[in-house]
Amino acid sequence: MAFPQAFLDELNNRNPIEDVVGQYVALTRKGSNLFGLCPFHGEKTASFSVAPEKGIYYCFGCHKGGGVINFIMEIENLGYPDAVRFLAKRAGLEVPEDGANQSQYKKKERLWALCKESARFFNERLKTPAAEEARAYIAKRGLSGSTVMRFGLGYAPNAWDALLNAMTARGYTKEELYEAGLVLQNREKGTFYDRFRNRLMFPIIDVRGNVIGFGGRVMDDSTPKYLNSPETAIFNKRRNLFAMNIVKKSKQGFIILTEGYMDAIALHQYGFDCAVASLGTSLTQEHADMLSKYTNEVVLTYDGDAAGQNATQRAIPMLEKTGLRVKVLRMQGAKDPDEFLKKYGADRFKLLLEGSENQAEYRLRSLRMKFDLATDEQKVEFAKQAAELISTYSTAVEREIYGARAAEMAALPPEVIKLEISKAFKRRTAMEKKANEKRDLEAVAARQPKSRELRYDNVRSAMAEEGVVRMLQREPHLFARAQELSAEQFSVEMFGRVFEAWRERWQEDLDVNPACLTAMLSPAEMSHLTSVLQKQDAPLSDEAFDDCVRIITEEHRRAQVSDAGDLKALQERLRRKKGYGGT
Ligand code: UTP
Ligand code: MN
Repeated sequence: MAFPQAFLDELNNRNPIEDVVGQYVALTRKGSNLFGLCPFHGEKTASFSVAPEKGIYYCFGCHKGGGVINFIMEIENLGYPDAVRFLAKRAGLEVPEDGANQSQYKKKERLWALCKESARFFNERLKTPAAEEARAYIAKRGLSGSTVMRFGLGYAPNAWDALLNAMTARGYTKEELYEAGLVLQNREKGTFYDRFRNRLMFPIIDVRGNVIGFGGRVMDDSTPKYLNSPETAIFNKRRNLFAMNIVKKSKQGFIILTEGYMDAIALHQYGFDCAVASLGTSLTQEHADMLSKYTNEVVLTYDGDAAGQNATQRAIPMLEKTGLRVKVLRMQGAKDPDEFLKKYGADRFKLLLEGSENQAEYRLRSLRMKFDLATDEQKVEFAKQAAELISTYSTAVEREIYGARAAEMAALPPEVIKLEISKAFKRRTAMEKKANEKRDLEAVAARQPKSRELRYDNVRSAMAEEGVVRMLQREPHLFARAQELSAEQFSVEMFGRVFEAWRERWQEDLDVNPACLTAMLSPAEMSHLTSVLQKQDAPLSDEAFDDCVRIITEEHRRAQVSDAGDLKALQERLRRKKGYGGT
């Protein structure tokens, strides 16, 4: 997807970063920069900065950064082209789309509109006489009028062509209905018919408020209980969660993850406006990433059965990987939150939430389930694995408490398990200490980019490259002193690209700023570049600049020589191996 650079420059100019960020974050000025609380991670002191004249933002806490387009990508959860369109709209600019993309986007817009009108249609059907059974079912499930309204619930009439006729009458084609997953096609006759018939309808809405699909529930015991829209150009189950559009505004500070639409809806009705549900599939890494943008803590409320336990075990590492805190909620006496709330009410649920068992306990208990502790062999194995697990718990108190609990489970004397734990703990800390020492030795590691996608192989050169890039951004006239320098000489490929792109702009008398590079750099590279530009170091001078250039050239030459050396050595080895021309 390539937008013309001139358009992107205009886009950046017309969307001053302090204005755009200012709509999401309260900023206060300190010197030439503005500071506020980072919207991308929870914090109490402002480490999020905006540099208007550079057109960039950077968080000293979570190391996210970039230009205005990156900010919108991150905060609105949009892809690059959609973020560009978003900003274009904001500034009243026309987006020059290339043919293929334009039709792609136009098509999506049609499907969004179609789904929205379909949701409205289903919702209106709910008021008709034919929806008597649906209204009775809603009452039976205890859903209030305002809940029905908030979630836009509806009724799909008991007919083969109700939606088909209504939407074609509004100008949508049968093919569009098919592409939106709303109708199916009869193989033999080629005719189309409604996918959802005589079902209670749950519109699925993405974070931006677009209706992208539906879940439809039968109102009796027939199967399938729920029918969902298939994957379409606008509906991706791996990337969306039911009710996320409402939850993103919640002030609760945590998000409750449930398995069912009904569970999420019931929680909202009982005052927990922070419940989402997955879309009939298991949790994906994409879901975890999305959740981590909106909260620091996720509460899992999966079923207590084996499938639910497995789902929980799979979800925990995915969520933790993104830095989220995870709590597991165990409901006694009810199979899901919906049932629990009906039986015991919101207050009991709240107690459950507050006492949410931490994963330390949960993990130990799950481990326990894998063993038959009646046999000695299994007891020994359990004791070993439990000790290994508990040794990973971070506080001494936890290790003490859960050690005692594990001993109780296995009916072993607590001293035995404690000894095992302390052995495992020592092993672990010895290993960690070694790793730490190694890290300390490599003082250079501290200078490595925060992003795991980037690595400095030659730290000396990389530091000089950082310097060059930083100084050029502040004083583009320094390009005149770097006539000899070229992209290949940079050890960090990305800095080479930045250098070339800026030099071209400088030659054409255009602004040299980071924001103009958004199209060219990945978000991780952009974050890294902004972190480099934010670093305050030695005062800027021609001499300092020349020094950096000299180091880059020197290191480049050295790398070439050593490459050549490696090559020579390799040739030598090969020759010996083959046994010709050798000694
Ligand atoms: P459940 O069977 O736990 O249903 O399925 P539920 O949410 O408790 O619904 P009620 O209370 O019986 O109305 C959990 C989720 O699995 C998906 C749906 O997303 C559902 O919300 N599912 C279930 C399907 O997609 N198809 C099915 O046939 C059943
Ligand atoms: Mn249920």
